[in-house]
Amino acid sequence: MSAEQTRAILADAQHIAALTGAGISAESGIPTFRSNTSSTEPRATASGPVPLWDRFRPEDLATPEAFARDPQLVWQWYDWRRSLIAQAQPNPGHLALAELARRLPRFTLITQNVDGLHDRAGSHALKLHGDIWDLRCTICGHERHDPAPSLDPLPPYCNCGGSGESRCRGMMRPGVVWFGEPLPAHIWQQAEEAASSCDVFLVIGTSALVYPAAGLVHIAKNHGARIIEINPADTPLSGIVDVAWRSPAASALPQLLQP
Ligand code: OAD
Repeated sequence: MSAEQTRAILADAQHIAALTGAGISAESGIPTFRSNTSSTEPRATASGPVPLWDRFRPEDLATPEAFARDPQLVWQWYDWRRSLIAQAQPNPGHLALAELARRLPRFTLITQNVDGLHDRAGSHALKLHGDIWDLRCTICGHERHDPAPSLDPLPPYCNCGGSGESRCRGMMRPGVVWFGEPLPAHIWQQAEEAASSCDVFLVIGTSALVYPAAGLVHIAKNHGARIIEINPADTPLSGIVDVAWRSPAASALPQLLQP
């Protein structure tokens, strides 16, 4: 029923926008932030100091304060996520969104994900929270895009100026947006514009707990868009959506491509 309902709504739309969260990458093997332990998470062993990442909330690791307190710990977490992401492939949900963008008159994809799987599926996504493969120097601001799955040694240091004297030797930080930091203004502006002007807004695989990203749904609703949520679980936004499609994204989204 939700597939038919959603296809009918999409058929009449001129501009569709979609906001994705960690749930769309769950079926690529990347654990969501607020999930229970999954089989892909590392376990502490007697032989190794592998932290049990599910003991930490994202709010404990993805903050400037956490990085100032313990950059090694924060980098270990990001390095672990980088290694999982490097092994992952875009799933049928990512691929279906890329195909929808090709077929529809206007489609804006907005993501909270930093994993780059939308890019690898062939989409152009507005990345609200940055990119896990980007690094930025905490001293000189030099940026580096480094898709190496594991960075050794941790934490990484800036390589501006090569090996010369002018090298700043600053510690690099992940090029992502942390809690308490502003979103990149030009990206947010485009996302807000899409939410304000679309006819249909798809909310896919997000717990909708993190603002301002979740606020895009309210913006779309207030501007008259129909809201379709694709998520196996309820979220705080479920009360305001027009269609709540309780399904994993990788099986729901390909159904939107059917005639
Ligand atoms: P969360 O981990 O908070 O939520 C994941 C959502 O995906 C939940 O609502 C799940 O029910 C849903 N889900 C799980 N499996 C799914 C599947 N197969 N298909 C569809 N949905 C599924 O992740 P986000 O909402 O993305 O920010 O988290 C938002 C932000 O909080 C992240 O971007 C990150 C995080 O801390 C920063 O790091 C700043």
